[in-house]
Amino acid sequence: MNKGYSVKISGTGSCLPSNVVTNFDLEKIMNTTDEWIRSRTGIESRRIADEKTATSDLSTVAARRALEDANLNAEDVDLIIVATITPDMMFPSTACIVQKNIGASKAAAFDIEAACSGFLYALSIGEQFIKGGVYKNALIIGAETLSKIMDWEDRNTSVVFGDGAGAVVIKKTTESGGILSSCLGADGSKGDVLTQPAGGSRIPATHGSIKDKLHYIKMEGNEVFRFAVRIMGKAAVEALKLSNIKLEDIDFLIPHQANIRIIEAAAKRLNLSKDKVYMNLDKYGNMSAASVPVALDEASKKGLLKKEDIVVLVAFGGGLTWASTVVKWSK
Ligand code: UT7
Repeated sequence: MNKGYSVKISGTGSCLPSNVVTNFDLEKIMNTTDEWIRSRTGIESRRIADEKTATSDLSTVAARRALEDANLNAEDVDLIIVATITPDMMFPSTACIVQKNIGASKAAAFDIEAACSGFLYALSIGEQFIKGGVYKNALIIGAETLSKIMDWEDRNTSVVFGDGAGAVVIKKTTESGGILSSCLGADGSKGDVLTQPAGGSRIPATHGSIKDKLHYIKMEGNEVFRFAVRIMGKAAVEALKLSNIKLEDIDFLIPHQANIRIIEAAAKRLNLSKDKVYMNLDKYGNMSAASVPVALDEASKKGLLKKEDIVVLVAFGGGLTWASTVVKWSK
């Protein structure tokens, strides 16, 4: 399959809504405290999209920024994949809306859904298309407006999530490095612990489903937490094994930004000091599929990632799903 070339990340971009909602703002509307949220999660504030802003709007801006960073025109994009659990609508796909917005008229476009692991699933799919010789350039986006499916009366969920979008351009290259390996996984038998029950074919929208609040995120936080602590480190180790990279060779970990305690557990499993782990959940909370690409974009733009650095991206989420990708940074 590999015909002497690899797939590299050549540009990154992100977009966050301007509206900042702090823990203190939440104290005013629900029975919670800044102290509880900060000590249990590490989150201090999150960005929340306004009524008019949909996932494709944030995706479009993130995509344009990634294209600019990669020095690529929209007409040169062969494929757009958007990973999201909050698409603008059931169909057409958010990717098709982005394709229209940015003018990527030659690109195939589709959405995928693997919840918080979605961006890394999409990255792996895009990589396969390029490695297989089908496409040269792909735009991979992780984007969410989770606030649209959040119950502001449910303190179990509404304090942890936020909105945002991140994008990367990946391209075929003859240079060595780029994406070295990926490990994707799922355990559907545990899917009940994190769901949006209604709005699909099982429970279509009815007055009853709305009255029963079935269109909102439902989460058994403890169960997800236990799963996450176990799987983050494990997924990263498996992806590292596939590319024969040792733990001591990791330069940077960019984890899904769900909870500081989960990230610390993963860092411990990987023997990594704090300065090698990128965190921005204090500012943005958990943005599901957008967490990893936004963090990657920030780390890249801050100059934290050096050429040839071994960067491990890892995520877990609804499904339940997990994913990890090892990259030799070559942007
Ligand atoms: O991206 C994947 C999606 N999800 C996740 O990654 C979530 C993973 N889970 C978590 O991050 C944590 O489980 C949470 C942050 C969601 C919850 O933290 P926890 O330490 O597991 O708390 P808990 O659910 O065990 O609740 C402990 C206590 C309970 O009170 P009692 O029963 O001990 O009196 C809750 O009712 O804290 C209470 N509580 C709150 N108190 C203040 C729950 N939510 C809140 C809140 N403010 N927002």
